[in-house]
Amino acid sequence: MFRIQSKLDTSSPEFRKQKEEYLKILAIYKERLASTTRGGPEIAVKRHKDRGKLLARERIDLLVDKNTPFLELSPMAAYNLYNNEFPSAGVVTGIGVIHAKEVMIIANDATVKGGSYTKETIKKHVRAQEIAMENRLPCVYLVDSGGVFLPEQSNVFPDKYHFGRFFFNQARLSAEKIPQIAVVMGSCTAGGAYVPAMSDETIIVRNQGTIFIGGPPLVKAATGETVTAEELGGGEMHTMISGVADHLAENDVHAIQICRNIFESIERREYQPLPTAPIEEPFYDTEELYGILPIDVRKPVDSRELIARMVDGSLFHEFKERYGLTLVTGFARIMGYEVGILANNGVLFSESALKGAHFIELCTARNIPILFLQNITGFIVGKQYEHGGIARDGAKFVHATANANVPKFTVIFGGSFGAGNYAMAGRAYEPRFLFMYPSSKISVMGGEQASQVLIQVKEEQLKARGQELSPEDRDKLQQTILQKYEEEGSAYFSTARLWDDGIIDPVDTRKIIGLSIAISQNKAYKETKYGVFRM
Ligand code: COA
Repeated sequence: MFRIQSKLDTSSPEFRKQKEEYLKILAIYKERLASTTRGGPEIAVKRHKDRGKLLARERIDLLVDKNTPFLELSPMAAYNLYNNEFPSAGVVTGIGVIHAKEVMIIANDATVKGGSYTKETIKKHVRAQEIAMENRLPCVYLVDSGGVFLPEQSNVFPDKYHFGRFFFNQARLSAEKIPQIAVVMGSCTAGGAYVPAMSDETIIVRNQGTIFIGGPPLVKAATGETVTAEELGGGEMHTMISGVADHLAENDVHAIQICRNIFESIERREYQPLPTAPIEEPFYDTEELYGILPIDVRKPVDSRELIARMVDGSLFHEFKERYGLTLVTGFARIMGYEVGILANNGVLFSESALKGAHFIELCTARNIPILFLQNITGFIVGKQYEHGGIARDGAKFVHATANANVPKFTVIFGGSFGAGNYAMAGRAYEPRFLFMYPSSKISVMGGEQASQVLIQVKEEQLKARGQELSPEDRDKLQQTILQKYEEEGSAYFSTARLWDDGIIDPVDTRKIIGLSIAISQNKAYKETKYGVFRM
């Protein structure tokens, strides 16, 4: 492969200024991230520790092999929602390594509203199980939860992907021979009792973990029976009398050790072999990404400059370099793994759409994972292009992306607008993981365009009634839409609602994508079958 020749002058004042600006954006992101990963309010953290319990992230640290990476997912879920009373949505999820096997860990944070589940908590838990299914990852549930957050019951209980889905998923995962292990380290009430009950193997902590369908107050109200929580559903009882749990632990540390022991005898059942090469750091400094990434999404960026700072040795075998210039395609290695890259370099034209579809066919034919680097305002518009069949060619690209069965990974490095989001493996196209940068933007179109469309619609409406839109009303409408799109288009708005798997620091991209490819090797890649391409 040839090395990408950077055309950037990294000593120029513009580059330095942009880098400075980006570092400010990054500092805000790190501060916000730190405030969410601290967990619940100080008083709740203290109470939790005084009970001799470890915090959710401390439990995970102990559970995973020393000096191995933990890929935490959506740590800023529920950010800026519910007055920020649900940091990380009250559950920590991520992929860690236990006895050299990659495992999905789902850990309730009992310092956040008693570990109860609101809408985003549910979405995060279900998403973690979906990732486990796609990548054949065993699941460990570190349970410490008050169950459904009762004031939000209509948003968390009845629908297809609500609370009930946890147990459906556990049954399906177990049927696929994907181990389901629960460690009950606190409360586990009502529906929540099914997490340990539906697990393949369950550990419970003495005088700390409880499992019951109805707690003591409910039992008293329903039957008049007075019973303590420990008698009703404690560890001693469940491991000796009911058989709902299998191992009794003395405390958190002991429970985690038992959980680790279980993984001594769990083997990977499938494996996707991939050719690998020794890892080589990029030739160009990855920190230069801060001087390149678009802060204003209207600023054109040559995505080769990004690729040069992400891939091994900055080496890139570019495909169709002279054709369809608004999409850069080619092969490279990331952390030693071969990967096909599609990166936006402007608006998508017919040629770039055809090039994208062709390149995806190459990757699926060769069983090579695909990395989509998104910075897309959409497909080209206008009479000439509609007559030329831009919808037909765009459809080929979307079709290829949708059907590609090699793992897809998406990083939104600029804007993600319109149907370009679909072709470039947006959330609906099931990339194995989708990450954003703190500066990224996502919405159906840019705020400016949306406000123009809506103003025009309003003007037409009024015209039909013989009226006109006053300049004041026009300005007001424009400002309202601009403000709405600004807020709703931010990476924080997206990550709070789990439209992505987390906001990441751009310099970590190659490590995170390398890790993601390694994770995907737990399941053999399925053959790709395409449908009818509109010609
Ligand atoms: N719904 C709504 N809020 C809940 C909740 C739930 N299911 N479970 C806990 N909370 C809230 C509490 O109201 C409290 O909120 P606050 O800090 O704003 O006052 C916070 O979580 C901590 O609860 P608290 O009871 O003070 O903590 P604890 O550690 O002593 O006890 C539980 C935790 C989970 C054992 C206890 O709160 C409990 O039994 N909750 C109800 C469990 C239940 O019956 N769930 C059925 C739903 S399926």
